[in-house]
Amino acid sequence: MNEKVKEYFINQPNLGVMEDATVMGRGGDPGCGDYIELYLKIENDRILKASAMVAGCAYAIATTCVFTELITGKSLDDAMLLGGDDVIRVLGEVPEEKIHCSLMGPEALRNAAHNYIMAKICTPFEV
Ligand code: FES
Repeated sequence: MNEKVKEYFINQPNLGVMEDATVMGRGGDPGCGDYIELYLKIENDRILKASAMVAGCAYAIATTCVFTELITGKSLDDAMLLGGDDVIRVLGEVPEEKIHCSLMGPEALRNAAHNYIMAKICTPFEV
């Protein structure tokens, strides 16, 4: 495990439930059973804050923490353009068998965006 991955695994930035989240999205890998919940505070379609709960390996924690940092401050549209390769670029070298860990964040974001749009369409209130 490289130093950058270790740093994120130990410090775990943005790990935890966000009580005032606008929306939550889920991502997981059926192959290994790992799972994340991504919490977003959104205003005017922009992600003001992101946090996550992770049930998974050290790489799942590190990659998800990086993903929360990458999407914070971005519009939902721009955040949706980010993928696992962007996360791995931040962390440096990640073993081949751990690359799938970096895909749970983007998957959870797509699920959160879906939930956000559905909430906007289905309720008379602004979200
Ligand atoms: Fe499957 Fe890390 S998410 S081993």
